[in-house]
Amino acid sequence: MELYEAINKRRTIRDFEDKPIYEDIIKRILSAGLKAPTNNHLREWEFIIVNDKKQRKRILNLEDMTSYEECEKMMDGFGMTDLDQRKMYHIAMPKQFSMLYNSGCLILPFFKLREPLMHPTSLSSLNEFASIWCCIENILIAAASEGIFGVTRIPMKEELEHIKNTINHPDNYTMPCYIALGYPKSDAKIPVQKVIKVEDRIHINHW
Ligand SMILES: Cc1cc2nc3c(=O)[nH]c(=O)nc-3n(C[C@H](O)[C@H](O)[C@H](O)COP(=O)(O)O)c2cc1C
Repeated sequence: MELYEAINKRRTIRDFEDKPIYEDIIKRILSAGLKAPTNNHLREWEFIIVNDKKQRKRILNLEDMTSYEECEKMMDGFGMTDLDQRKMYHIAMPKQFSMLYNSGCLILPFFKLREPLMHPTSLSSLNEFASIWCCIENILIAAASEGIFGVTRIPMKEELEHIKNTINHPDNYTMPCYIALGYPKSDAKIPVQKVIKVEDRIHINHW
């Protein structure tokens, strides 16, 4: 698939076929991740692949939000008024656990921390965090080029603590998100994507 086609086809998918992804394809996708730019030249990224369902259940310390009203309340609390955004949350919130649990391949990416992530002293303190997101985007686009789609979820504090306890990763590594990949179900719910006209976002010489 051509690069721009893969970029345009990439969408967030939360409903997956019950179909594993072959190891050589996963390796190709992760290799694309490892080609991403990195602040310090070192690409200090590690990936844990969790495809054993028992193990997935053990490490996933979260639940689907099943109540429509609870979801509405959460969005009101965040002051969300955009209707497309609210529809997306109604699709996403009931699947926060199941999209990870049911994916064809669950990847836990890790990056090496130089200083505590939640106490940055300057923008460059966040370089490692920014770099791993370049890696994650490469992964998502490479996956799309293989006909594989997925979703990233940012873990809450308790989830990160639980991951640390179950996975026992080194203290100086942290997980920016879960990456769930898989083949989309034919009836996968895909929210309307906001279409932005590029001309509306380009400013010439001043804002
Ligand atoms: C930094 C980041 C965090 C995200 N966190 C979540 C999440 O916690 N749960 C979820 O279901 N989707 C999550 N997403 C997926 C977004 O909801 C999705 O990218 C967005 O709705 C746009 O849709 P599209 O990817 O299909 O264009 C996240 C995406 C990004 C880039």
